[in-house]
Amino acid sequence: MSKLPGNAGVSLLGDKSLEFYRDPVTFYRQRVDKHRGRVFQGRLLNRPTVFICSAAGMRELLCEKSNVFLKDPTDLMTNMYGDTLVTTNGEEACLLRLSLTSLFTGSCLKSSSDYISSVCVRCLKDLSLSGQPECVYSVFKRLGTELVLGLFLNVRAEEQPELFQEIMQLCTLHWHGLISAPVNMKVPLWSSGFSTALDARDKLMDIIKDKLENDTEGFVGSLGSLPLPDSSAASQHLLLFISALIPKAFASLLTSFTLALSGNEQEEKRRRAREEPDYLHNVLLEVQRLWPAFIGGRRIADQDSTLAGFHVPKGHGAIYISHGVHRDPEVFQQPDDFLPERWSGRNAGQEHFLCSFGSGARNCIGSNLADVFLKEACVYLLTHYDWRLDPPSQDLEYKWLPVSRPANPPTMSFARLDQTRSDKSDTSWGMHSTSSDITS
Ligand code: HEM
Repeated sequence: MSKLPGNAGVSLLGDKSLEFYRDPVTFYRQRVDKHRGRVFQGRLLNRPTVFICSAAGMRELLCEKSNVFLKDPTDLMTNMYGDTLVTTNGEEACLLRLSLTSLFTGSCLKSSSDYISSVCVRCLKDLSLSGQPECVYSVFKRLGTELVLGLFLNVRAEEQPELFQEIMQLCTLHWHGLISAPVNMKVPLWSSGFSTALDARDKLMDIIKDKLENDTEGFVGSLGSLPLPDSSAASQHLLLFISALIPKAFASLLTSFTLALSGNEQEEKRRRAREEPDYLHNVLLEVQRLWPAFIGGRRIADQDSTLAGFHVPKGHGAIYISHGVHRDPEVFQQPDDFLPERWSGRNAGQEHFLCSFGSGARNCIGSNLADVFLKEACVYLLTHYDWRLDPPSQDLEYKWLPVSRPANPPTMSFARLDQTRSDKSDTSWGMHSTSSDITS
């Protein structure tokens, strides 16, 4: 059997984690070119690791061999969130998925739809009001935060502004711990980002436990009554669900959506997306193909195995790189071009080659909720506004970690559609809305 191309190194010295985390896209592209293949090895987190950038390789890793390549229970996520589904394997993971999935599908998902609509209206209704360009990433992150705190914790910004603010700040501190070095040291008057994050986690846990004990309504009420393996499972999962990770992922995809459809050149695409639900669906597939919110996911080989025909010894890591998988020319012609039409043409029915929400047995349990929410937000934007980059020339270079977005968050001007329709001149951009607009 052939040996994996590339060098897995032997020690910390051969470790490529820093290079990878600094710029994962350049990292994989250089190696794909060098090895003339989309599967290669390197040393990541001081472990020999297979990098998967092909669609077939991703399917093999996440679907066909999901019982060989397992989640890493020592992942940093476990440090910050405690034991959750994300880092659990085997029967426990199956049972957790079974219980938790019920909260994100069927009647539970349906009962969220009024709240999802109301939060979109509240956060998006004033985009043209100030007359100034808006930092869309911040607007969408606020929208995502209002969604998760309202939906999962019954804390609504308009009803409990102080508590909402406090939780939002704690989530930010907690998040900074996840991305800072895990040095848990504390000296008087100084604490590292990591120990500040652990303090924030403890405060969040107090709030969450209080909610689980006292709220019988909504998601938190349903979660409290689910059959879960131990008493801390509900609170640890709530911590995960309200963390900054999910609002950031929503903000990432909504920012990429507005960028892809901005300006006069994209007017026809906006019109079609507004009028044809199938076309909007294809636009969103293409947005997540080109700008996936997360760079990928990691597994560990539980036994000797193979990937893409290469031998992979037990203990090796394997990481799928969604950016690379989604640009595999074997599946996606003109891989770097934004072509929503591909999903009703050559790539019709091939959504399974996307991995922006993972794939297979351990795919994202919140993907249906994400789909409903993203479509609601996009439909609101499309039916109320035209938008364009303002200023027109901005540096839109993406950073891909920890969550993808343009490194310099872009600013855009929004114009109410009713105004742009009646007056196509530039003067309608960013004009103040009428009072009837505001209440819509
Ligand atoms: C735009 C929003 C979201 C994106 C892009 C996203 C993406 C992903 C991805 C890529 C994975 C797979 C990770 C891997 O293969 O290692 C995943 C797993 C997961 N997601 Fe999401 N997610 C989103 C929203 C949500 C929401 C709203 C929830 C729940 C509130 C959620 C809960 C989870 C959980 C619990 C897992 C782990 C599943 C398992 O290991 O069995 N996600 N998500």
